[in-house]
Amino acid sequence: MREPDVAEVLKGSARIALEVEPPFHSYIFVERSARKCKELEALKAEYPARAERIHIEKADASVFLAEWCNQIDRRRSRAVVFLDPFGMQVEWSLLETLAATQAVDLWLLVPLGMGPNRLMTRDDLPPEEWANKLTRFFGSDEWRSRFYRPRAQPDLFGESSPVEKNAGFEGLADYFVNRLKEIFPGVAENPLVQRNSRNSPMFLLCFATANPKPSTKKAALDIAKHLLKER
Ligand SMILES: C[S@@+](CC[C@H](N)C(=O)[O-])C[C@H]1O[C@@H](n2cnc3c(N)ncnc32)[C@H](O)[C@@H]1O
Repeated sequence: MREPDVAEVLKGSARIALEVEPPFHSYIFVERSARKCKELEALKAEYPARAERIHIEKADASVFLAEWCNQIDRRRSRAVVFLDPFGMQVEWSLLETLAATQAVDLWLLVPLGMGPNRLMTRDDLPPEEWANKLTRFFGSDEWRSRFYRPRAQPDLFGESSPVEKNAGFEGLADYFVNRLKEIFPGVAENPLVQRNSRNSPMFLLCFATANPKPSTKKAALDIAKHLLKER
């Protein structure tokens, strides 16, 4: 379960991956929590026939994946990467590294509602620490001009900031998908919006393929778009 607020309870992604037929040649589960790693070890024990293919890495996923991208044989290796953070841990530089492999199909759950939308304060630009976090997340500080506008009713006494927030989930989602298109050759344009029990949009499930070969890219996108539509 993602968090109590999210309406739908999902089967764990590690188990889903392990049950895919035909199996993958290798499964790498990257998790920084020791407790969650133990849970993954218990899951591994349920699949003895696949045990040799299952690798559990207790690591920061961004660090691990950056190294993994550097050492894979890009001509021969292909991988599906699923990034499912609770918060804004996935920064733009990691997505650039994954895109540069030309070998990865990426599923990415983006916490647009809980993360960036909350960091973007309504009545003024966010404090510096949050602003830096947003810039690392989007890989650009364009969010400042895109999601803030001059205040509609200027304050005659000069007490309020000259700008106000002009962002909603839909605008953030469009922007994020367009940003993905700048670095990945193929991006599904129908990402799935995941809502909480109060029907507020929280997450955006995106798909992007790093493989530039037209036939491979098309096949990956057709499958992803179909899956996203079916949900
Ligand atoms: C939403 S949960 C993943 C749920 C999983 N996909 C499932 O379906 O069961 C997010 C997990 O990411 C882990 N995590 C968060 N930041 C991380 C990081 N930088 N590196 C590795 N793991 C991280 C958390 O400990 C947590 O277990």
